[in-house]
Amino acid sequence: MCPPAHFDVTYSINPWMDPAKPADASLALAQWEQLCGVYRSLGHTVEELAPEPGLPDMVFTANGATVVGGRVFGARFAHPEREPEAERHLEWFAAHGFTHLHVPVHINEGEGDFAVTASCLLAGRGFRTNPLAHGEAQEYFGRPVIGLELVDPRYYHLDLALAVLDDAADEIAYHPPAFSPGSREVLRRLFPDALIAGEEDTAAFGLNAVSDGLHVILPHTATGLHGPLRDRGFEPVPVDLSELHKGGGSAKCCSQELRA
Ligand code: ARG
Repeated sequence: MCPPAHFDVTYSINPWMDPAKPADASLALAQWEQLCGVYRSLGHTVEELAPEPGLPDMVFTANGATVVGGRVFGARFAHPEREPEAERHLEWFAAHGFTHLHVPVHINEGEGDFAVTASCLLAGRGFRTNPLAHGEAQEYFGRPVIGLELVDPRYYHLDLALAVLDDAADEIAYHPPAFSPGSREVLRRLFPDALIAGEEDTAAFGLNAVSDGLHVILPHTATGLHGPLRDRGFEPVPVDLSELHKGGGSAKCCSQELRA
């Protein structure tokens, strides 16, 4: 995670960002600290990446890499505004004992567009990640990559339209209208028992959730998901990240998972 010390909305690269509505960095920082506190209180370890002036989206660390089995698949950002972030992530990994580092050839925005399940990687395309990066990730991780076409600009990253709830049991939640008809059908075939999220909860960034297999940390306004999550044995943990929503991201976007 990276503290939003320099967070602001100074450019617009997704429909949620409006530079006319700048963000309050101190409120964003307080909300982010709460999210860190939630992870720590649940027994998780939080590692920190140093924030840098001029990189206001650096708080969205999910986009900086994809890590599975200790192997790091670096990111390559679609927009020049975020391009320098990729290197900061790789430097962090190199300095923290990660020896398998892949510098990507094709554009991919890390866990923004790669979701890890027990059997495969689900991979978004259509807005940010180049479909060629799907093959590149498959070769690097030796896991099947299932490409999914995103069609709604509000859900420009896979992690805004789909959440992995249990990566051991292949349990997911998703919002079908965010995907092309063919990709919807792929999801229906692979995950017939998935939790289907409605428009309101998805627009409240309810699928931008982080699950440890029991607790599901999600924005506090996505209340429609609480009941269905409890019915499946999960415990919803609501957090208020309203200030970060101005940048077009929530809990998951702020959290890159270091899978050992
Ligand atoms: N402003 C950032 C962007 O548009 C938000 C990134 C959100 N991150 C995510 N994992 N969906 O790139």
